[in-house]
Amino acid sequence: MTFRAKHLLGIEHLGPDEITTLLDLADQYVDLNRRDVKHTNTLAGLTQINMFFENSTRTQASFEIAGKRLGADVMNMAMQASSLKKGETLIDTALTLNAMHPDLLVVRHPHSGAVDLLAQKVNCAVLNAGDGRHEHPTQALLDALTIRRAKGRLHRLSIAICGDIAHSRVARSNIMLLGKMENRVRLIGPPTLMPSGMQEFGVEVFEDMREGLQDVDVVMMLRLQKERMDGGFIPSEREYYHRYGLDPEKLSYAKDDAIIMHPGPMNRGVEIDGVLADDINRSVIQEQVEMGVAVRMAAMELLVRTRREAAAEQGVMA
Ligand code: CP
Repeated sequence: MTFRAKHLLGIEHLGPDEITTLLDLADQYVDLNRRDVKHTNTLAGLTQINMFFENSTRTQASFEIAGKRLGADVMNMAMQASSLKKGETLIDTALTLNAMHPDLLVVRHPHSGAVDLLAQKVNCAVLNAGDGRHEHPTQALLDALTIRRAKGRLHRLSIAICGDIAHSRVARSNIMLLGKMENRVRLIGPPTLMPSGMQEFGVEVFEDMREGLQDVDVVMMLRLQKERMDGGFIPSEREYYHRYGLDPEKLSYAKDDAIIMHPGPMNRGVEIDGVLADDINRSVIQEQVEMGVAVRMAAMELLVRTRREAAAEQGVMA
């Protein structure tokens, strides 16, 4: 098997062969998820705990559905009602849950690096469901699966990632994944929302949206992350939409068959025109959500398989 990772903490740690293995398995789960009966017993008897220290709709729901369809016992920790409120630390919380022998921990946390730290303290597989501005690996993987299915390949494509790059873990994970799979990545956004030194990641940077969108195959819009801003990044939402909001006129610079993506949640009328977002001939935003369940099923199955194989090898050597 070409998947070797013990945790899924970031795209940074995955090789192109591991990404392909995961997407191939996810393709099979897309088929299963479209059937009347969607259950397997791949993770039967295993325990999955979801710990979301930040709000989520798509990621939390799809991890829960993914675990249940694989037959795992899934528990969603209500973090707002946990002993964190009494001052218990993240690490003590993790050690407490670890003592209950979970097999999979799914963690979203507002601080970059918090999920990596937690993974060092527990015995089970940890999946990063988004940590601060750092990484959101399953989002990049579901984006990759969506692109591969829409375009028939995941290499030598020209892909524009537009908007609030500075605060986006989605952008960071996508830049790494799309680069590893040998695509041409363009970043488009105002200088205030574009971290310096991005060219070091092998991407092209554009301030002008029309120039950046010229002849691209994929237009990936990002949410303006107001909750991570402490003021002064944009003159106004109206001005931002005028310069960087995706509308039919700006989209006309991309290829005629370019697809529109957005990780959600969307600010309609801020980074994207609502009609374009709903245009089933161009937008694959709902497909992204569908792929999210399949990718998370594949990720959890592969992590469990890696651990079972490692345990079997240790048993043979003992
Ligand atoms: N794309 C994404 O992470 O959405 P949620 O915040 O709703 O999980």
